[in-house]
Amino acid sequence: MGVLPTEEKKIFLNKLEEIRQKALEHPEEFWDEHARALDWFKQWDKVLDDKDKPSYRWFVGGKINASYNALDRHLKTWRKNKVALIWEGENGEVKKYTYRDLYVEVNRAAELLKNFGVTKGDRIAFYMPMIPELPIFMLAAARIGAIHTVVFSGFSSDALAKRINDAKAKLLITADGGFRRGKVIPLKEIVDKALDSTISVENVIVVKRTGTKVNMVEGRDFWYHELIEGIPRNVYVEPERLDANHPLFILYTSGTTGTPKGVYHSTGGYLVWVYWTLKWAFDPHDDDIWWCTADIGWITGHSYIVYAPLLHGLTSLMYEGAPDYPAPDRWWSIIEKHGVTIFYTAPTAIRMFMRYGRKWVDMHDLSSLRLLGTVGEPINPEAWEWYYEVVGKKRCPIIDTWWQTETGGFMIAPAAGIALPPLKPGSATFPLPGVDADVVDEDGKPVPPNTRGYLVIKKPWPGMLLGVWGDLKRYVDTYWSRFPGWYYPGDYAMRDEEGYFWILGRADEVLKVAAHRIGTMEIESALVAHPAVAEAAVVGKPDPVKGEVPLAFVVLREGYEPSRELEEELINLVAENIGPIARPAGIVFVRKLPKTRSGKIMRRVLKAIVRGEDVGDITTIEDRSALEELIEMFKS
Ligand code: WTA
Repeated sequence: MGVLPTEEKKIFLNKLEEIRQKALEHPEEFWDEHARALDWFKQWDKVLDDKDKPSYRWFVGGKINASYNALDRHLKTWRKNKVALIWEGENGEVKKYTYRDLYVEVNRAAELLKNFGVTKGDRIAFYMPMIPELPIFMLAAARIGAIHTVVFSGFSSDALAKRINDAKAKLLITADGGFRRGKVIPLKEIVDKALDSTISVENVIVVKRTGTKVNMVEGRDFWYHELIEGIPRNVYVEPERLDANHPLFILYTSGTTGTPKGVYHSTGGYLVWVYWTLKWAFDPHDDDIWWCTADIGWITGHSYIVYAPLLHGLTSLMYEGAPDYPAPDRWWSIIEKHGVTIFYTAPTAIRMFMRYGRKWVDMHDLSSLRLLGTVGEPINPEAWEWYYEVVGKKRCPIIDTWWQTETGGFMIAPAAGIALPPLKPGSATFPLPGVDADVVDEDGKPVPPNTRGYLVIKKPWPGMLLGVWGDLKRYVDTYWSRFPGWYYPGDYAMRDEEGYFWILGRADEVLKVAAHRIGTMEIESALVAHPAVAEAAVVGKPDPVKGEVPLAFVVLREGYEPSRELEEELINLVAENIGPIARPAGIVFVRKLPKTRSGKIMRRVLKAIVRGEDVGDITTIEDRSALEELIEMFKS
């Protein structure tokens, strides 16, 4: 793509700058105007309330409903019969729902929830495969003001129980099983195990997907298909008129401590944010077929499979299974079959397909594509080039979107919907309107160009999290204390001499393993629960496909010896405790961990050793010999 002529670049920068300036200098005016793109039952009294900062509240006094905005308002237009959702099962089965169909199913599901006594503010947990009932029930929950908390179906029963307990979910929605590479994952069985250690869940709704035999607890568990049969197709459930700051959902994500955080989002600000960010970054048209390949169990799926595309009245595609099943051309065949025009995925997937080779891509006609997107981790230039050339045939700009569970939607991304900047492989380009991003040093001073620093967001934005569920202190400490008054995302970044942002990976104890967010402390606490383990430290080891993988350093207790069996046992323990995605790539048994004299494990040093980098300043280390042993170990 290269650098555009100066004149053209100026035009672009001026156009984006003009909107950005307006949003930053007069945020209330700007958002007052932009929030009107959605349907509100009642207008807000105040655009931004900052009296309890950093618990900022947007559109205070406004009344809105997510399900109404995603569905009802399209029924008044020609979009009524437009396809809202294309679903493809792993076995090739396809289902299409028009806006009208989805509306009917969401109303029925909402009625069903009401029949279980679910009311406004109740939490509903989901442990579901990628089937249409998942977005249907999310929207049904939103319709009656219940707060959904979707737990990624790759998490273990322990992890599920933890999240249910933290949210005190009253109802759980699951399926008998899910398909993955043709095999059945016994979801209901995992749920049963989780429910042994929860008390809040009164009922379980089970969707039949795989036909697997499951154990149904009398009076607690109910089949969805049996219940829904009794609910007429013309049932209408009045959408609740919810406060703009009524929580729409809680989504648990990993941080720097052992327990995941319940990030929760508003209804009004969140919807406004996902609506505008999708519009600015991808400039969606009515004839687009939008495919975001994420799992709905993560924020990317919430915001950009479910909410944003439906707010726009787009056709959103959802695929159930593994990307390379039954063959490595599965995704490309889906693009061809359904005429996907915008394709949004993660660098880890691109690197996997690079390994399979371009022949699998070339087997398919991908000429419907017009834009490509990426998210979840930094994209390396080789993957960017391959994506651009092999998938996009050098016709499709790549929209590299930087954001987080906490930000609700895109923050830094090329604004194709305003004016597309000249792209640079590996740069997410510029902040979107309303995002006051900067790169600063330890003391909060802006760093010079091409220097690594910490990414900060200096002003609140409508899509920001409302907080950490039940833990205000954690919210303040995690996000607003590192640089008082500013939001700290936990990422390293730099800006080049042209002002482009480059995200350089996590600055904290969080890993991105195949774009999934995993806390090293979560893995460590799982490991130290084993009787053989005295201490554990987990760091990310670079991996050519997954970006990084967890590697665990373990000190054993007296009386235990390192062995292959013990290594296996510990790895499996992590998988059981968190989920297969957190499995360490290996366990390194060590005599001692490098620590400071005050006893803190020097993870930074371990990370450098694993990466073959210089260990830097180690004057505070307590025992040099432990370190030398480790360096020796990783030399080969
Ligand atoms: C990383 C995913 C580089 C980053 C939406 C962030 C990225 C974390 C990008 C959030 C990108 C996300 N380039 N890094 N385009 N997008 N990240 O909460 O470290 O699962 O802080 O949200 O992913 O992960 P999360």
